Amino acid sequence: MCGIVGYIGGNEAAPILIKGLKKLEYRGYDSAGIAVYGDSINVVKTKGRLADLDEKVQSLGGVKGTMGIGHTRWATHGAPSDVNSHPHTSMNGRITVVHNGIIENYIQLKAELEKNGYVFASETDTEVVAQLFDYYYNGDMVDTLIKVIERIRGSYALAVMCTEKTDEIVAVRKDSPMLIGLGEGENYIASDIPAVLEYTKNYYLLNDNEIVVLKKDSVKILDMNKNEIKKDVYNVTWDISAAEKGGYDYFMLKEIMEQPKAIKDTIHPRIADGTIKLDDVKYTDEDIKNINRIHIIACGSAYHAGIVGKYVIEDFARIPVEVDLASEFRYRNPILNKNDVCIIISQSGETADTLAALREAKRQGIRILSIVNVVGSSIARESDDVLYTWAGPEIAVATTKGYSTQVALMYLIGLKFGQVRGYISDERVSELIGELDKLPEYIEKLIDLEKDIKVMAKEHHNSNDVFIIGRGIDYAASLEGSLKLKEISYIHSEAYAAGELKHGTISLIEDGTLVVAVATQDNLYEKLVSNVKEVKARGAYVIAIAKEGNTEIGEVADKVIYIPHVDDKFTASLNAIPMQLFAYYVAIERGCDVDKPRNLAKSVTVE
Ligand code: F6R
Repeated sequence: MCGIVGYIGGNEAAPILIKGLKKLEYRGYDSAGIAVYGDSINVVKTKGRLADLDEKVQSLGGVKGTMGIGHTRWATHGAPSDVNSHPHTSMNGRITVVHNGIIENYIQLKAELEKNGYVFASETDTEVVAQLFDYYYNGDMVDTLIKVIERIRGSYALAVMCTEKTDEIVAVRKDSPMLIGLGEGENYIASDIPAVLEYTKNYYLLNDNEIVVLKKDSVKILDMNKNEIKKDVYNVTWDISAAEKGGYDYFMLKEIMEQPKAIKDTIHPRIADGTIKLDDVKYTDEDIKNINRIHIIACGSAYHAGIVGKYVIEDFARIPVEVDLASEFRYRNPILNKNDVCIIISQSGETADTLAALREAKRQGIRILSIVNVVGSSIARESDDVLYTWAGPEIAVATTKGYSTQVALMYLIGLKFGQVRGYISDERVSELIGELDKLPEYIEKLIDLEKDIKVMAKEHHNSNDVFIIGRGIDYAASLEGSLKLKEISYIHSEAYAAGELKHGTISLIEDGTLVVAVATQDNLYEKLVSNVKEVKARGAYVIAIAKEGNTEIGEVADKVIYIPHVDDKFTASLNAIPMQLFAYYVAIERGCDVDKPRNLAKSVTVE
């Protein structure tokens, strides 16, 4: 949430900052700004998108200077407006700051600064940092930053410039992501790699409260006692093209299309000779046999992947699985026992609630296995073991390939644990691996239904409410299908366990209400057909998703989308595809900005 960039080098900073911010726009897009040091610090900022900022900078004839910081905002404190946009400057103009995160004690600090004569221009928490920095400034940026860090509470990725220091930017992070891009005669700060990938593939990752002194020819990282810290240089393994639209209108469509490859890349390296190898996850067979309970913790779509995981792991491995929303888990004093394991799922690896839940579980001495897409992210680094989803960069705010690869890892964990615990035979594991192998090819087939789904989207894009129903794993899939639809098309949608409908919600079904019935579980198929009859009897229009060959549902539903026949446990990977495409084309029909839905941002780094 919110993207920040920083540049210092020999080139004009403004175009580099704006280009970088464009690559981070998925992190927040309600306002944006840059500050560039030329003769003094020039700040240009505006409410609106990066394109608006670009236009404003152009209209000023550019902003000259070779050092600067920039920000694209997802508002937390203070509505999106020119004045609340970052960068923020101290009253006297000496200090300029960009910030991603929340300063929780800003009200007390503001009151204290006001008593000392500081006057505030914005409603933001960030302005406090600029003023506080100015208050403590003693000519030494690092000393001052340490004093500021000692006073502020909350989460932050901060980059700071001072009119009296023409050759350095200082930065620090805590619970908000930040990396340092390493160039030749130039260096960068960024919230995420795409912002700097055009210029460098080498970067440093920062731990909490590590202080960066960024100069043209050097990067120094210090701890809070000003001791220098030596860092490993990370190298990005993917190319800039992976973070570009590549001819598609939207990243979301590109990422839907990339799912066969993403799933292949996630599954294949972990299968050899009919067995599953979970990277260097340090679980012995004895450890796996001793697991008492698994707690899966995540937010949003990752939580939905966790619900699929519950069904799969409980059935394959007979281990009780609880699935928790991270924002609930962290505050509910969870009961964790010695032989419990936490599986933390997060595409970005930076989601604030998920990271806090991880820390709570760790504090209680529980072993953490994380499923993460972004290599080296905070969640990955703080876990005991990591399984990466090899989805590549995901830019669209609504996840598609991130979710699918998380689900794929749920299968591998379920199968591996089930085999080791003796609940599935080696022969059955190898049969199921054979099925997993076919998923990418089946997904390609479903992607070929794009045209038909586009027609359905045209017919239904004016719906006011949509209900998505399913049982078992199909219910988990419905939750994700419903979230996809509502978040990008703004149509009210609810997922329901089909058996629950008649306990209340069926009263909302009336003539023409669209119901999507996910009916891909063999043992629950007939029950779903009955549920379809019940909603049809009340006037619903039903689009069903069923397995090829299960044609009876065609006699009751208005339309059926058929998915290839796979084991019930693996259907979530297939029925996600038509639901993603449906959500995408409904949103297009409604003229929505698919990649940047209103009020949202990718990577939720604030609570
Ligand atoms: C929805 C979506 C979100 C994320 C959630 C968790 O399409 O993308 O619900 O799944 O914010 O994000 P990560 O996986 O980065 O922790």
